[in-house]
Amino acid sequence: MQSKAHAAHAGSGAENLTQLEFLALNSEFNIADGHARQPLTPGQSKIVNDLPLLFEDGEKRPVEQLEREAHAAFFKALGQHRYPSAPGRVLSCYSSSVAMEILSRALASVTDSVALVHPTFDNIADLLRGNRLGLVPLEEDPLHADDLPAELLESVGCVFVTTPNNPTGRVVSAERLRRLAGQCARHGVILALDTSFRGFDTRAQYDHYEILDASDVRWVVIEDTGKLWPTLDLKVGMLVHSENLGLPVEKIYSDILLGVSPLILGMVRRFSEDAAAGGLTELHEFIAAQRSVVRAGLADLSTTGVPDPDSRASVERVLIRHLTGTEVWEALREHHVYALPCRAFYWADPARGDRTLRLALARASAPLAQCVRALRHVLTPR
Ligand SMILES: Cc1ncc(COP(=O)(O)O)c(C=O)c1O
Repeated sequence: MQSKAHAAHAGSGAENLTQLEFLALNSEFNIADGHARQPLTPGQSKIVNDLPLLFEDGEKRPVEQLEREAHAAFFKALGQHRYPSAPGRVLSCYSSSVAMEILSRALASVTDSVALVHPTFDNIADLLRGNRLGLVPLEEDPLHADDLPAELLESVGCVFVTTPNNPTGRVVSAERLRRLAGQCARHGVILALDTSFRGFDTRAQYDHYEILDASDVRWVVIEDTGKLWPTLDLKVGMLVHSENLGLPVEKIYSDILLGVSPLILGMVRRFSEDAAAGGLTELHEFIAAQRSVVRAGLADLSTTGVPDPDSRASVERVLIRHLTGTEVWEALREHHVYALPCRAFYWADPARGDRTLRLALARASAPLAQCVRALRHVLTPR
């Protein structure tokens, strides 16, 4: 039998996307991971210059207060006005993966099966599977087009959707969320969302909490500051949940951590305020310009295509007609460029990711342009 490593990334030796991202970490031409690595804007540099003050503030003021302010500023910046403010309803974690692990463990206490969007970032699937949950793939086209089949909802304890999705950038609209929440409520199924990339896309910034609460569904949302701002991975993942969730998330949270650093909470507040005051628009323009560089750099190559024309996420997939993503990854490596072959995003059927490569856009412009030139060279038929 093929090992998972071989099945996912033949040739690289990696067993998951994060291992491929790890190989890229020290390269100047790292366009592999989706973390924010673009240069700070002038407004953000000012916050970094104020770090000693934020440290002092973190020493002096109660962490509960700092946390409340960070949550309020973050949610407000992203149009989430009806988020829960009662104690324990927004659990601040070191990262969204920690929030995901807490949710996975909690789900395993009530169900053995989860319907998960397909494709999506593989660590979501891996954390659910790591807690012995069986997964049912939820394909994006039917998910966005229609109600879910009743047989599916009768067979799972949770529906999990990443919106905007990574790597495709597809967003669940307000109307789809309303219907999905209504369906899940009627079937007694928990609805979980990972909204880590919503900061990039105004179409994902309608008030999800208002819709979820209006439906009576049991819901969980994983929010993330980590993809947005180039804060050297100082970030917060938030596990936000409904009052009626009925899962031991607070107990499991306390099994794993006490809380995140008050310094990071202070930074999240300041970066959120900056985002609300124009930083988010600036970020959208920056990512759109980076995306144009990629698309323009490859536009006339008959060997490539744009699979996600509507995506506004900070990642861009490239369709490759004549080579596999893994072959292109290997060829790019010779130019010291590290992108991400997409097989493992298709956690239920890796072969469907064979013809795509994902590039990270949240990077400095000059190295990204050089990466695109190298990619063009590799993809030009000889
Ligand atoms: C949709 C999504 N959720 C969660 C994560 C995990 O984020 P972190 O590495 O900050 O835990 C990622 C990572 O890229 C992601 O793409």
